[in-house]
Amino acid sequence: MRPERVIDAALEATVVGGFSSIGYAVRSRLNDWDHDLDLTGQRILLTGGTSGIGLAAAREMTAAGAKVVITGRDESRLRSAATKIAAAGPRPITLAADSADLEAVAGMFQRATDSHGGLDVLVNNAGALTHTYTRTPQGFEQTYAVHVLAPFLLTRLSIPVVGTSGKVITVSSGGMYTQKLDPAAVEMNAADYDGVNSYAKAKRAQVVLNEAWARHYPRGPMFAAMHPGWADTPGVQDSLPGFRRLTAPILRTAEQGADTMVWLAASEVDSGRFWLDRRARSTVRLPWTRYSDAAVEDLFEQVQAQTDPYVP
Ligand SMILES: NC(=O)c1ccc[n+]([C@@H]2O[C@H](COP(=O)([O-])OP(=O)(O)OC[C@H]3O[C@@H](n4cnc5c(N)ncnc54)[C@H](OP(=O)(O)O)[C@@H]3O)[C@@H](O)[C@H]2O)c1
Repeated sequence: MRPERVIDAALEATVVGGFSSIGYAVRSRLNDWDHDLDLTGQRILLTGGTSGIGLAAAREMTAAGAKVVITGRDESRLRSAATKIAAAGPRPITLAADSADLEAVAGMFQRATDSHGGLDVLVNNAGALTHTYTRTPQGFEQTYAVHVLAPFLLTRLSIPVVGTSGKVITVSSGGMYTQKLDPAAVEMNAADYDGVNSYAKAKRAQVVLNEAWARHYPRGPMFAAMHPGWADTPGVQDSLPGFRRLTAPILRTAEQGADTMVWLAASEVDSGRFWLDRRARSTVRLPWTRYSDAAVEDLFEQVQAQTDPYVP
């Protein structure tokens, strides 16, 4: 799908004001916007902390008193990010792991909880819009593995560790509004692979699985999916240069995109909801994208079976 179609889909749903820096600028001036978030002593595992929204969130969380573990694929990028985060407080622990590799994800989780002596908050943030079809070490399509399987596996592993007072936050995207849930088609095959579609399907899956987790664990932890809005990050610069060129004047900063993530980590909110700018939002804007609980449970069972081999 070309950037123009991405923009068109967003305009169809009349979301431009809300997703852009305008939405953030207006909402952050509202009276109930707390600028003094406290995460003192919270042990947080945040995937994808080397760049963009994840790096900004890790810095803000550290400044608010959290003890943070960040992940990424590259040791030197991790070291560089850790130095930037350390300007706000204690240096974060860094763990290299490719979210596309479920064995590596499970190993990384063990190392994260060992080094923290437990965990209070998991943030599933790592993600990328990948234009080419790629298979992972375990034979899955990469977008599906990184955005659906790895967060699901980390959520499974986290639940017994964070307990009922813990939190699981998943960074989805407003791009999911363009997609109807079709459990069997969330993982695209090589013949019809399209990076933007695949990304949006995976982001839809994140939002519905967040609802399912909350249904399965009504006493907690707190599950939250969120949309950062449109933020000017290396990820957007690399994967959607045309979109960025057209929307540059209204893109958010990475810090603005990270705000709801940090706020959710510091707040008690209704579990299972989808958040943008500290407010729960509808998960459906286009009538033909409505979905049933039964379809969500089908997807849940499918992903559960696919992640079973990686749960110790
Ligand atoms: N920017 C936006 O407007 C926007 C809008 C909606 C949703 N989002 C979501 O926000 C999240 C962060 O995106 P961003 O815009 O900040 O992008 P970014 O600047 O490219 O940062 C992405 C982060 O994810 C990590 N990552 C990517 N693929 C990974 C993999 N296979 N394994 C481990 N880590 C991986 C990257 O680490 P390394 O490259 O160092 O490995 C990096 O730390 C993503 O989930 C994205 O879908 C962004």
